[in-house]
Amino acid sequence: MEEGQKLKLAVFISGSGTNLQSLLDRSSDGRLLADVLLVISDRADAYGLERARRHGVPAYVVEYGKYFEKFSHVTDRIERRRLSYEEAETEIIGILKNYDIDYVVLAGFMRLLTPYFLEHFKTGEGVFRVLNIHPALLPSFPGRHGYEDTFRYGCRWGGVTVHFVDEGEDSGPIIAQAVYPIFPNDSLEDIRKRGLSLEYEIYAQCINWLAKGMVRISKDQNGKPKVIVVDPEYRNILLSWISFAFNQLRK
Ligand code: GRF
Repeated sequence: MEEGQKLKLAVFISGSGTNLQSLLDRSSDGRLLADVLLVISDRADAYGLERARRHGVPAYVVEYGKYFEKFSHVTDRIERRRLSYEEAETEIIGILKNYDIDYVVLAGFMRLLTPYFLEHFKTGEGVFRVLNIHPALLPSFPGRHGYEDTFRYGCRWGGVTVHFVDEGEDSGPIIAQAVYPIFPNDSLEDIRKRGLSLEYEIYAQCINWLAKGMVRISKDQNGKPKVIVVDPEYRNILLSWISFAFNQLRK
């Protein structure tokens, strides 16, 4: 893909899809240098499907449950999970084949992608084509409950992380992180709201960095992939996220 071109995205969801909505809105009004070509959900009742349809974006459901049933005779739980996930992912790969996608963007997709899918979707060594947004400051609080964990731990600052997806759980190379303050009287809902609005900002920025060719992958001293963002505005953008988080408090 050439620098400056709009990226073509497949967005994977499982739930309400407010991140999806933000990407759709920003794509429509030109703030996002990308188009959402399709949406895939692992749940038929995900409200995000409705958001996609309303926006005229094709939306597909891939029901992982039916593959669990198919492999109900497999007694080893891990093996059953692997087999059923890979079949569900084969269905996903079949759908993606009809679109010329640059990146898969996970936006609240509550399934881990297996090495089978990630390998399939790769174009070379050290190339990452799947992004995720995580509601905590990784490597703290990986898993499904980033806001709850941040809140229960009594953190004074919460954070959100955009990272490339690798074979682990929320363990891939970090592209960007932003933080928000947590005050003594805040409820879990307060911090979720504050964090989510920051998620929308940083996810869009990361996609724009990718579209502008500003994301480089290098290696750390252990050979582990490491992201370097080469934007002359980098410092100002980080500062703007801090102001954004504080401005949210006045709303
Ligand atoms: C977000 O908090 C995201 O970070 C996490 O799942 C949530 C999805 O929310 N991975 P939504 O469906 O985009 O509203």
